[in-house]
Amino acid sequence: MGDDAAMPQRAPSRPGHDEVSARRGAPARSRQPRKMPVTPEPATQVASGAEPISDTPGLDGSKGESALVVEHLTKRFGDRVAFDDVSFEVSYGEVFGFLGPNGAGKTTTVRTLGTLIAPSSGSAIIDGTPLSAKNGPEIRARISIMPESPGLYLRLTVMENLQCFAGLYELDDVRGRIERALRAVNLADRASDQCGALSKGLRQRVALARALLNDPAVLFLDEPTSGLDPVATREVHELIASLRERGVTIFLTTHRLEEAERLCHRVAILSTTLRLIGRPDELRQQLFRRSVDVRVRAPLDDPQSIFGALPGVEGWEPTLSGYTLAVSDPDAAAPAVARALVNAGADILSIAESRHSLEDVYLKLVDEDVEAKSR
Ligand SMILES: Nc1ncnc2c1ncn2[C@@H]1O[C@H](COP(=O)(O)OP(=O)(O)OP(=O)(O)O)[C@@H](O)[C@H]1O
Ligand SMILES: [Mg+2]
Repeated sequence: MGDDAAMPQRAPSRPGHDEVSARRGAPARSRQPRKMPVTPEPATQVASGAEPISDTPGLDGSKGESALVVEHLTKRFGDRVAFDDVSFEVSYGEVFGFLGPNGAGKTTTVRTLGTLIAPSSGSAIIDGTPLSAKNGPEIRARISIMPESPGLYLRLTVMENLQCFAGLYELDDVRGRIERALRAVNLADRASDQCGALSKGLRQRVALARALLNDPAVLFLDEPTSGLDPVATREVHELIASLRERGVTIFLTTHRLEEAERLCHRVAILSTTLRLIGRPDELRQQLFRRSVDVRVRAPLDDPQSIFGALPGVEGWEPTLSGYTLAVSDPDAAAPAVARALVNAGADILSIAESRHSLEDVYLKLVDEDVEAKSR
């Protein structure tokens, strides 16, 4: 068929769902797993064993089942370890970022949780169902994977593509589902355009519409903005943000740290093993001491005599335009710092709490990994 046709990576939907909708809260249980027509059946070796951890609060503060519970999951290809002993949970309605350098194991994790390949050891529960070969069709019916390459039939129109995939997935209410999916990605007016004539960003949107057709309990997005220009990237970000608003559970792998920082409730940093997991602000706090950045017009004659005498300041170091002061409480320290600088006759340009980006966190961890490997 098309030039760019790829295997669809997920299965038919649950019947009876009439919305591409928010999924905050308990999952529906009336799904009828059906045969996945194209995706090969995985030889999943590991089945149950992990109990859903029920005391994890949901995003709305409720205590509920998690959309994903992953425990000690490992995947090896022969001697090569793709990811090792990975454990985490994702709540319903959460956008969970999965970050890591090239070869960290992100795509392999998605493929494993998506039941496309079997784990080597460990366990996972996906939307309440243990990962196992037997449960593969049931799990695939509840999730969607948007792979890095959109994999559309380029000679078919947007509508024909979606009809084709809805047919492969054996979905009910095809017309309604396609309409809602197209609306969700703002593509209703391009339904009769040939996919080959669409820009990369628009094709990515069609792929997202396809991934929404079955109203997935967990939507896996593997590098959804890879190769897109800033405008198309922003469009995809806006779509993901709108899905987040609607409470869709999203597992997002990305290299783009600003993407994770902006879109994700929590992020995990993977480098074969899981290095860190938490909200971006928690990760910053965990890795960096709190500090205050002081910018002054001219270097101080004797900074130690000024900063060393301040009780809230635990240390200082010069920067290009001033000084960074290690403090336990920036709000308490800043006024005292300002007074001391004014008394010393310094011209203050700014005093502000240091901001560490997720990029700082990531680079610090990756640098530590490189150092550890070179030891
Ligand atoms: N089918 C396979 N056979 C053998 N090795 C594989 C296979 N798939 C992945 N790997 C290896 O597993 C490791 C993790 O690969 P993976 O594609 O999951 O990384 P990634 O984090 O998605 O990287 P990227 O950011 O480049 O997409 C790599 O060393 C890769 O070569
Ligand atoms: Mg990858």
